[in-house]
Amino acid sequence: MSDTVTSRISGFHKLPLQERLKELARMFHFTPAELVQLQGSDGLEPALANQMIENAIGTFSLPLGVGLNLQVNDRDYIVPMVVEEPSVVAAVSVASKIVREAGGFTAEADESMMIGQIQVTRYGDPTEASQKILDAREDILALANSFHPQMVRRGGGAKDLEVRVLPPPEGPRGEPLLIVHLIIDTQEAMGANMVNTAAEGVAPLIEQLTGGKVYLRILSNLADRRLARAMCRIPLALLEDFGMPGEVIAEGIAQASRFAQADPYRAATHNKGVMNGIDSVAIATGQDWRAIEAGAHAFACRDGQYRPLSSWFLEEGHLVGRIELPLALGTVGGPIKIHAGVQMALRLLRTQSARELAMVFAAVGLAQNFAALRALGSVGIQKGHMAMHARSVAVTAGARGIWVEKVANLLVLAGHVKVEKAREILASLPAEEAAAATGTG
Ligand code: MEV
Repeated sequence: MSDTVTSRISGFHKLPLQERLKELARMFHFTPAELVQLQGSDGLEPALANQMIENAIGTFSLPLGVGLNLQVNDRDYIVPMVVEEPSVVAAVSVASKIVREAGGFTAEADESMMIGQIQVTRYGDPTEASQKILDAREDILALANSFHPQMVRRGGGAKDLEVRVLPPPEGPRGEPLLIVHLIIDTQEAMGANMVNTAAEGVAPLIEQLTGGKVYLRILSNLADRRLARAMCRIPLALLEDFGMPGEVIAEGIAQASRFAQADPYRAATHNKGVMNGIDSVAIATGQDWRAIEAGAHAFACRDGQYRPLSSWFLEEGHLVGRIELPLALGTVGGPIKIHAGVQMALRLLRTQSARELAMVFAAVGLAQNFAALRALGSVGIQKGHMAMHARSVAVTAGARGIWVEKVANLLVLAGHVKVEKAREILASLPAEEAAAATGTG
């Protein structure tokens, strides 16, 4: 099947929704029942939702779209994205189309190494306590691994141990913090449960070794042993757009990158754009997106100043973009095997492993960022955003069917994209047309 899948589906956005589904069904040989699952109309059963969280009262829907044109390491990916913000899916697709013409993204990802933290207190001398823990390294790792025999059989499990002594936050009179890091290869799992079980499991041994008292035993979301990187290299000629030469567009993108490097106020927004893409695919594929967010922003601060996760610069007639961030993703666990929509999303994406998933996420983040900076550094984003925003304003005012587009266009033409104006437009239609436009006819 892989040969028949392409992410370059021209005219896809112009098709009616049902035709888009048919197009995917043709490519992936989806059955009608699978298409229903993909569309989410029989979504998550309330009974299942009730088993997933406490006090469940139902489920909650968001739009699912597909980002197109993405190519990473010479493989095509159709990217399932769940997001409420209008321009996100289109932005990834436009950016990926340009990068595709330049040979696509290249990407790589580290092994699935997670960090479990154990906080030791009242241990006496920090150097002595640290040494006792390091001397018992093999015993501690063996104990950690005893909680996950299957993972160890598959080649994963606790691989290393570190001891960190941190200055006391209350000043020199406080006790330095003694923090043990267990480094655990969680393979195909995001790994939170596994890491937490291991951290809790070895705590009594660490107390015994040091004579101290352990408080926290929990994974770190700053998963900096589990980084993913993506890169693209675009000839300037391919950047020509908005009636501007490629050199001018590229210069705008490089200037945007400099701005974010120097200024945390800008870096926060720059990274928000990156996460627009990453969160959307994270939600669609059942990932813990809060963990991803926490890791990304902590990583962005690693040198003491909050910085952009991606950078763009000019090199020998090309615009080069790079991104690096922690991505603790799973292909097993969480809602992945339970949620039919997540399974369908993963089938669309066709990734074979958590590492491949991380490479695609990194490329999606870079594509999203590229689309934003390309517009910001040239014509600005409001023009494109407004056209999209106008559609939701039209819907809010009551427009339905083909009238959503018509009213949206009129709003943009009027230069006044407000619900009141949309209502005015709808009210000005002859009675019969107004009934059709609002679905009340
Ligand atoms: C909007 O959701 C995201 C942007 O603000 C990102 C950016 O400024 O780079 C457009």
